[in-house]
Amino acid sequence: MKILVTGGLGFIGSHTVVELAKANFEIVIVDNLYNSKEDVLEKLEKITGKKFKLYKYDLCNKEKIEEIFKENQIDAVIHFAGYKAVGESVREPLMYYSNNLISTLNLLEVMKKYNVKKFVFSSSATVYGEPKTPKCTENMNRGETTNPYGTTKAMIEKILEDLYASDNSWNITLLRYFNPVGAHESGLIGEEPNGIPNNLMPYIMKVASGKLEKLNIFGNDYPTIDGTGVRDYIHVVDLAKGHVKAIQNAPDGLNIYNLGSGKGISVLELVTTFEKVNNVKVNYQIVDRRPGDIAENYADPSEALKELGWKTEKSIEDICRDAWNYENAEG
Ligand code: WQD
Repeated sequence: MKILVTGGLGFIGSHTVVELAKANFEIVIVDNLYNSKEDVLEKLEKITGKKFKLYKYDLCNKEKIEEIFKENQIDAVIHFAGYKAVGESVREPLMYYSNNLISTLNLLEVMKKYNVKKFVFSSSATVYGEPKTPKCTENMNRGETTNPYGTTKAMIEKILEDLYASDNSWNITLLRYFNPVGAHESGLIGEEPNGIPNNLMPYIMKVASGKLEKLNIFGNDYPTIDGTGVRDYIHVVDLAKGHVKAIQNAPDGLNIYNLGSGKGISVLELVTTFEKVNNVKVNYQIVDRRPGDIAENYADPSEALKELGWKTEKSIEDICRDAWNYENAEG
């Protein structure tokens, strides 16, 4: 089975290529290198011992997508490509709406033309908005998203639901990620945010390695265990394996799955765990809440276990160790 992985040189895409290769799928990668580096390709070849065809194309160019489908007998698509920085999306909404929506619509239209109907979409827990209860289940309505990035995820879910309603020969799987963190144990691939990190774990990394002075903890007055924000952090390798299970086991039709550990931990708990596991100090200060943040969310991952046979295997300690290993390997 030949899988087209869009954004396959990115953080989650590259880890998914490794797991797909281990499961003996044939893989074609398309990536415009906006938020990834071409040398990830040789790292993937080093980890897997396999070579992968790379198209350095932008999915906003429909003719280029068609070239890929003309040259390869694609059986399924896993769609990671898209802009994903929350803060940037607030500053540049038009860039986010046009890029994330046009690229996805182009891809789906070419898939339809070539009768490729198996589609796995990289969605996000952010579509739940501020959930009524911290534990998120797939049958909850999508909530009020708090930034254009999250809104594009919710919009694309709606587009896919309407597509399926119009033609139920599509096999569509929406995977709602909670907070992807960590890195491959080899230290060769990991999270490589451009500039100052938005997300917590890469920021902790930069502070622990002295590249940034201290972590700003956005508020400690939330109604949570210690007042700081609670999230469900999932090791990126566990997340990648969830995509393989989705390709292998997703039932017919359109299905939605939470990919998370099922456990929430607070910012302070993560910082303390990171310091203990890696025997390093992470300086921090409490500052005001970040606009748009929610207090707490974590996954109910039982559907993914029941229908895909998937659950997380790595611990928060594994996450802290593998992330730090990558940061140091990066040098
Ligand atoms: C986690 C917690 C912050 C940074 C977003 C997107 C989601 C996904 C992951 C793309 C919160 C606190 C953070 C910092 C802090 N995006 N924090 N200081 O906001 O849960 O999710 O990123 O894949 O779709 O919505 O992740 O890591 O930014 O924040 O105190 O410097 O850490 O307040 O409680 P978030 P995050």
